Amino acid sequence: MKIIVADHYEDLCKLSAVIIKECVQAKKDAVLGLATGSTPVGLYKQLISDYQAGEIDFSKVITFNLDEYAGLSPSHPQSYNKFMHEHLFQHINVQPDHIHIPQGDNPQLEAECKVYEELIRQAGGIDVQILGIGSNGHIGFNEPGSDFEERTRIVRLSESTIQANARFFGGDPVLVPRLAVSMGIKTIMEFSKHIVLLANGEEKADAIQKMAEGPVTPEIPASILQQHNHVTVIADPKAAQKLKNLSYLSNK
Ligand code: GLP
Repeated sequence: MKIIVADHYEDLCKLSAVIIKECVQAKKDAVLGLATGSTPVGLYKQLISDYQAGEIDFSKVITFNLDEYAGLSPSHPQSYNKFMHEHLFQHINVQPDHIHIPQGDNPQLEAECKVYEELIRQAGGIDVQILGIGSNGHIGFNEPGSDFEERTRIVRLSESTIQANARFFGGDPVLVPRLAVSMGIKTIMEFSKHIVLLANGEEKADAIQKMAEGPVTPEIPASILQQHNHVTVIADPKAAQKLKNLSYLSNK
């Protein structure tokens, strides 16, 4: 695991955008795994400005998002589908049929999960997978206690995630769906060739320390990343402040 401490959030966004840009420049039909939440928003802004500057062409790129709330239609204002279109897709030249996000309101949700997993397999896996991290150590919506062998499936959100995500639902936790579809830990570990985990702010400091330095345990789902052979963590100084072992910290 390589850990880069960015100077600040804008730096974190630039560094992660460079990884995506280099990937797409080397492979026009790259498969990108994308995440939602506040953390990657600046990365997406950077990618939009790189696209506008003619530095990156998304016309052959394929995307898979990590997760989606169950029960929300793609056009629901708080769906991750809507989020991704607003923050990235509508501003770049990605082909609509190259975009994959689980359909949260599919009445056959279990079948949706199986098909999603199969689509990633058929695409040949994910070249760069962007991850955020929950303050409880979750990745995607794989909450503490998630089995490391699980694939894309229906998951139940933890109380802390419901509280943390209420800010996107006008601050009312009652409005946050209790269930979601998420790529599983096994999906992420097996299909991702390069995992880039972004963490910003002191509320992520405990999770980052446990992810990198604690035991590999389902109680901290992100700790499994210690066993992946190509992980780059990009953290701002506040998210990195509790790391004790500085030997794996990398210069930019
Ligand atoms: C959500 C998403 C995760 C994301 C996490 C952190 O629960 N399902 O994929 O990493 O929140 O979000 P933020 O970046 O807003 O802290």
